Amino acid sequence: MDSPRPARILLGVTGGIAAYKSPDLVRRLRERGAEVQVVMTRGAANFITPLTLQAVSGRPVRDTLWDGSAEAAMDHIELARWADAVLVAPATADFLARLAHGHADDLLSTLCLATAAPLAVAPAMNRLMWGNAATRANVALLESRGVAIFGPGTGEQACGETGEGRMLEPAELAELLLARLPRERVLAGLKVVITAGPTRELIDPVRFISNRSSGKMGYAVACAARDAGAEVVLVSGPVALPAPAGVQRVCVESAEQMYEAVHAALPGADIYIGTAAVADYRPVAVAPQKIKKTAENLRVELVRAPDILGSVAALRQGRPFVVGFAAETENLEEHARRKLLGKRLDMIAANRVGDGLAFDRDDNSLLVLWNGGREDLGAGGKPELARRLVALIGAVRCSVRQAPADTAAGES
Ligand code: CTP
Repeated sequence: MDSPRPARILLGVTGGIAAYKSPDLVRRLRERGAEVQVVMTRGAANFITPLTLQAVSGRPVRDTLWDGSAEAAMDHIELARWADAVLVAPATADFLARLAHGHADDLLSTLCLATAAPLAVAPAMNRLMWGNAATRANVALLESRGVAIFGPGTGEQACGETGEGRMLEPAELAELLLARLPRERVLAGLKVVITAGPTRELIDPVRFISNRSSGKMGYAVACAARDAGAEVVLVSGPVALPAPAGVQRVCVESAEQMYEAVHAALPGADIYIGTAAVADYRPVAVAPQKIKKTAENLRVELVRAPDILGSVAALRQGRPFVVGFAAETENLEEHARRKLLGKRLDMIAANRVGDGLAFDRDDNSLLVLWNGGREDLGAGGKPELARRLVALIGAVRCSVRQAPADTAAGES
C-alpha cells in the first residue's frame, strides 16, 4: 500500500509579539510529519524575519500577492488548494477582524478566503483586546462559520498584564491542528439523522417542562459526522447554538414534534444517532390560558411522550444503524447495556450525569457498548469525543454489515 503523503499545512503569521514562537511551531509541525508553507503579513516582519522561518520550514516564505516569480512558481490560488489545513498563529485582533469581514487585501487574507481547507486561528493579544466586544463578536462570527479557535491561554502577557490572551504553546497548537485534519472519511456517502438538545413540553402558553441539555454533544456529533463525509440532518430542540455549516438543521420544541421531524427525515438514512435529551413524559393537556395561582396545590398529570429512539429501532423497513445515548447517574454500564438490549439498539454511548457532569459543559466522557463490543472513549472535549464516536460508529457498522455477507459467501 502507498504510504500517505505528508499533511500540508499553510501557517499564517501575523504581527504580534507571539510571532517569536512561530519557528518553534514550524518545527513542532514538521517533527509530526507535516510540510509547512509559511505566509507572513507585513506586520509579522516587525517581529520575526522571513529568513528564520524559511530556514526552519525549508521553503521560501511568501508575504505578498505581488511577487511575480513566487506567483509563477505556485500562484495564490494553487497555494490555497495545496493546503490540507490553514493555521494562523499568532492571529492578532486586527487579523481576526479582517478575516471575519472577508477582507482580501494581502496574501494571507486572500488565501483564507480562497481555500476550502479547514481554517484555524490561534489568537494572541492583550487581555482587554481579547475581551473587547468587537473582538468577541468577530470570534463568534468566525466560530459560527466553522473556523476553529485554538485558545488563547491565560497567563502573563508581554505587556506586563496577566489574563486571557496568550497564544497557546507551539506543541499544543501542532497537536490540535493535526488532530483536526480530515482523516478517513468513514461516513462518506451516508445519510445520518441526529437529534440534539432538550425538548419542551408545554403546561400552558408560558410554562413548560424541560431539562438541562445544552445540545453541545449532539451538535459536536453532527459536525463530526459532516467532517467524516456524511449528509447530516440535525433535528434540534431549543438550544443557544448556531446551525453548523453544511448541516441541515430542523428546529423543533416538543418530543412529539421531534418524533415527526425524525420520521420525516429518516427515508434514505443509513444511521440514526439519538443524542437529544427527549422528555419521557408530557402534560396530558396544555392549558389554553396561563394557569392562575388560585389553588393551594396544583397537579399536572403527565403521560408518556413518544419514545423516538425505540420507534426508529423498531422500524421493519428502512431501519438505519441505530445509536442511542444513555445519561445515567449510577450503574452506568449495567443500565446502558439494559437499554441497548431492551430497545434493540445497535450501539449505545453512555455518560455519567449529575454532580455537575456532562450537561451544559464543554467536556464529557463516554463508554460505548454494542452487541459483542465495548470501548471506553475516555474523557475530553465534546468535539474530540464526537470524532472518536463517529469513527467507532463507522467501524462497527461496517463490521456488522460484513458479518452476514461473509456467512453468505461461506455458504455458497
Ligand atoms: N429517547 C428518545 N425518546 C424519548 C426519550 C429518550 O428517543 N422519549 C432517547 C434519547 O435520545 C437517548 C435515549 O433515548 O438516545 C436514552 O434516553 P434516557 O432518557 O437516558 O433513557 P430512557 O430510555 O428514557 O430510560 P430511563 O429514563 O429509564 O433512564
